[in-house]
Amino acid sequence: MTNRYMLAQLPTPLEPLTRLSAFLGGPPLYIKRDDQTGLAFGGNKTRKLEFLIADALAQKADVLLTAGAAQSNHCRQTAAAAVRAGLKCVLVLGGSAPGSPNGNLLLDQLLGAEIHWTERERRAERMEELAEEIRKEGKRPYVIPIGGSNGVGAQGYVLAMQELVAQIKNTGIHPDTIVVASSSGGTQAGMVLGAKLYGYEGKILGISIDKGDRGPERYEVELAEIANSTAEVMEVDVRVTPEDFFLDYGYLGDGYGIVGFTEREAIALMARHEGILLDPVYTGRAFGAIVKNAKAGMYGSTLFWHTGGAAALFAYGKDL
Ligand SMILES: Cc1ncc(COP(=O)(O)O)c(C=O)c1O
Repeated sequence: MTNRYMLAQLPTPLEPLTRLSAFLGGPPLYIKRDDQTGLAFGGNKTRKLEFLIADALAQKADVLLTAGAAQSNHCRQTAAAAVRAGLKCVLVLGGSAPGSPNGNLLLDQLLGAEIHWTERERRAERMEELAEEIRKEGKRPYVIPIGGSNGVGAQGYVLAMQELVAQIKNTGIHPDTIVVASSSGGTQAGMVLGAKLYGYEGKILGISIDKGDRGPERYEVELAEIANSTAEVMEVDVRVTPEDFFLDYGYLGDGYGIVGFTEREAIALMARHEGILLDPVYTGRAFGAIVKNAKAGMYGSTLFWHTGGAAALFAYGKDL
């Protein structure tokens, strides 16, 4: 395992969703509160950043460079982590600057990140260009891929599974299935590797947020690559295959970041029955899958892994 730079408040709570389970009339529902990891409104990226920041510091980097959508939770947490570690943060965001910043974008600015806008498809390329410019200025950039999803970052979710397995032992809560939003893959990849390493035997179901079923280039192949590269970084013998990954591609709706009935209903149910806020892009969609299955009487004891993102709610007022 590589070094770790402590950023998150751990362990995050594992709690029953008593009122919502009763309302949906099915088996027990639980929640793992990674929206409470604590760094500038928290979220799943904080666990990955503990390892990415440690790696950046080990490489003597002085600038963190990453990319995402205008409302990226990953970018907001990276900007905050950079501040904590005394590094500069440069963000490449897809699209163009809105008239008035809101949600995560407002927070990126408050956290002092330098922001560059480009077309969505050019973000990785633009990061490389900026890295080159930073090097020419005599500084050392550390490039974090979109979502922090590589073998270094995903270590955070391997350890999150170790944390969960300990909580399961202590609480007697036994979820048959874990449901989690899946997009750049590091979260699910780390969890599946962690499940093998620490002995969680239930199913881990990723709700695909933005990737369709892509034939031989399938997302499952990418997930297995991230997990195996994580195993190499951690120097453990376990390996996974694409068949170890379970995905539901039925919730892509009208596309990434487009809020529909599924997200609106899930956000309202969680807020009104549990006082917990989901986000409009990831967790609203993923929890929507649980709501749909619950209505159809099609689920067992389920743990919803809340990955954060509620700061984006403020940028989605009109859609909600
Ligand atoms: C709130 C939230 N949930 C889930 C995800 C998906 O995690 P991953 O990119 O590791 O698949 C993200 C990031 O993209 C996110 O911001």
